[in-house]
Amino acid sequence: MNQERWSAVDDYIADLFVSPDGALDQTLAASSATGLPEIAVSPVQGKLLMLLAQAIGAQRILEIGTLGGYSTIWLARALPDDGRLVSLEFNPKHAEVARTNIGEAGLAGKVEVRVGRAQETLPQLVDENPVPFDLIFIDADKPGYPDYLEWSLKLSRPGTLIIADNVVRNGEVVTPDADDPNVQGVRLFNERLAAEPRVSGTILQVVGSKGYDGLALAVVQV
Ligand SMILES: C[S@@+](CC[C@H](N)C(=O)[O-])C[C@H]1O[C@@H](n2cnc3c(N)ncnc32)[C@H](O)[C@@H]1O
Repeated sequence: MNQERWSAVDDYIADLFVSPDGALDQTLAASSATGLPEIAVSPVQGKLLMLLAQAIGAQRILEIGTLGGYSTIWLARALPDDGRLVSLEFNPKHAEVARTNIGEAGLAGKVEVRVGRAQETLPQLVDENPVPFDLIFIDADKPGYPDYLEWSLKLSRPGTLIIADNVVRNGEVVTPDADDPNVQGVRLFNERLAAEPRVSGTILQVVGSKGYDGLALAVVQV
């Protein structure tokens, strides 16, 4: 098994289950044309996020890490007419590209992109005492993941689904003394998620066009 095969199978799955989609294709094209890194979730993963949000009947979604708005659009499409998604993005250029893409997708009325370090925008959000989010998708800087888990719990209710991307990192996650701060960030996140009595979770290893990584899923219990 290798990357070529994983990508071929991802294409096969996408051909079967992900219809060509002007807004999503344009989002990736615009993100690439404006020089954003090509680190959005894959189409198959985007559809999974949308299905998970639909399955739990999500009305309020929080995303940490917007980039060009690709996963944002997938998630926002699961929302009812009065649903709402808040997406947190550090880089103003990424946020600007995302807002344009989200607007082109007809979702500007449901989605708010907030600019700033999530380490600052999350406490601000908590101060606003919002209705708890039904689904929280963590996909920003990996060293920040342990803190994002804490803030996510403050913004949750029993039943909230917390999803975190990139928690296996090509298998490096099993290397305790890894030099990479991204690996150390997700290791600490995974350990805290596993030990956290307020959630029940697991991690799925994932292969595909984005390589070998993993998705953490947890449901808030109390
Ligand atoms: C992997 S990308 C997000 C991809 C996006 N969720 C998607 O799949 O389309 C990570 C994003 O997090 C942003 N980011 C990095 N550090 C951040 C921080 N401390 N606070 C908020 N966003 C941050 C980056 O600028 C980048 O746009």
